[in-house]
Amino acid sequence: MTRETWATRLGFILAAVGSAVGLGNIWRFPWQTAENGGSAFLVVYLGIVLLVGVPGLLGEFVIGRRAKKSPVGALRDLSGSKTWGVVGAFSVVTGISLLSFYSVVGGWIIRYLLESGAAVVGGSPAYFTNPGQYFGGVSAGVDAALYHLLFLGLTALIVFAGVRKGIELGTKIMMPAVLVLLAGLAAWAATQPNAAAGYAFFLRFDPSVITENFFAILGPAAGQALFTLSLGAGTMITYSSYLDEDRSLPFDGSAIAVLNTSVGVITGLVVFPLLFSQGVNPTETGTGPGALFVGLAGAFSQLPAGTLIATAFFAVVTLAALSSSISMLEIPVAFLVDEYGVSRRRAVTGMTALVAVTGTVCAFNPGIFGFVAGPLVNVLLTAGLAAFLLFVGWVMGREALEEFSAGAGEFSKSLGTPWLFAVGVVLPLFLVFTLLTHFGVDTTIGFWPTVGVAVVASAAAFLGLRQPNSVV
Ligand code: PHE
Repeated sequence: MTRETWATRLGFILAAVGSAVGLGNIWRFPWQTAENGGSAFLVVYLGIVLLVGVPGLLGEFVIGRRAKKSPVGALRDLSGSKTWGVVGAFSVVTGISLLSFYSVVGGWIIRYLLESGAAVVGGSPAYFTNPGQYFGGVSAGVDAALYHLLFLGLTALIVFAGVRKGIELGTKIMMPAVLVLLAGLAAWAATQPNAAAGYAFFLRFDPSVITENFFAILGPAAGQALFTLSLGAGTMITYSSYLDEDRSLPFDGSAIAVLNTSVGVITGLVVFPLLFSQGVNPTETGTGPGALFVGLAGAFSQLPAGTLIATAFFAVVTLAALSSSISMLEIPVAFLVDEYGVSRRRAVTGMTALVAVTGTVCAFNPGIFGFVAGPLVNVLLTAGLAAFLLFVGWVMGREALEEFSAGAGEFSKSLGTPWLFAVGVVLPLFLVFTLLTHFGVDTTIGFWPTVGVAVVASAAAFLGLRQPNSVV
């Protein structure tokens, strides 16, 4: 059977944007921003997206388009070594882990959407009365599990329909809808009383917060940048493996990063004015995944036409979440199809059954949910991206440069060599350092010793991988 491909270039871009834009932008980003000092976090995060995110994205694209295989086969075939195939297999684990918790959050969102939508015709959503108590009641247990299954089912339906008829068509409809609804909500939020305080919190640039907390912000900002750009999981390798034409990867990658970041920022322009207009200060409402949920639901309940606004908001979140969850499911599905010749339908059915179970475990157990959504995913994505980029720089080497340049314009081509150096040397070092901070090494042995460990570990990896084709 011939391998599927995207029908159009725009289809690929929108699918990748769809993967990137998701709960990471809407649910995790405002919450991380609030937890890490507002605008200071935003600045560090933007810097990391530009310096780490975009080159990293191009690293994954280069692997995928070159190999035309999902991560396991791609790393194995391009290197000619089974060991790299095993490294690629981690992406399957990552995809399943991501979807297990994501689908639970997706379930909460669908529930809020249905509640709000039903109340538009009359009455008010149940969560208006006591948002905190309501969220506490539905976020774990049987309810959470059932809605998780509903969200997972919708995800599976889209992936089931295939690359063109499912993922491409779906994201072509979902992404414009997300952008239009979100822009409308942002315009409306601007008219709310006290919106200015929200903007100030989000956008006022205070250099002292950065200088004082730079290293504390760095870890979360890096984690957020990887998560939001869907990096380190192998999603972007998988999606770019369906490209059949050599168009400019640097152009496509930049467009994807800009669109994704814009959605994050616009979401901030909706969320913060809304919270502040109702006197909710996000740094004071406590932390954790539910905080913003509760704060925002509380704000909706106070607003004129709050039910309608809530419906529009949760519709945006549902669409954004679905366009990401399909990219998570596609990782293990593509693996089964590519490696074992399983039909797409069987692969989707099997993987969905598996995540139905792992997601249900997360839905019933907030401790496991928190572990998967936080530390586990952070570590898997960071280590995953470090491995992919080491592969690009040291195993593919000049071959990667060739793939980077294929279809690229003159300007982009001139960036090829610095890019290869960045992804082969600088970014792995940075990622190894971040990985150590995820394990708390810096708080134990101090900042500079951790840098030292990162340098030694990276240097060992460089020496171990070095071959004639390598970056240096
Ligand atoms: N980028 C997605 C989001 O922001 C999450 C994601 C991570 C999707 C990794 C695929 C792979 O919600």
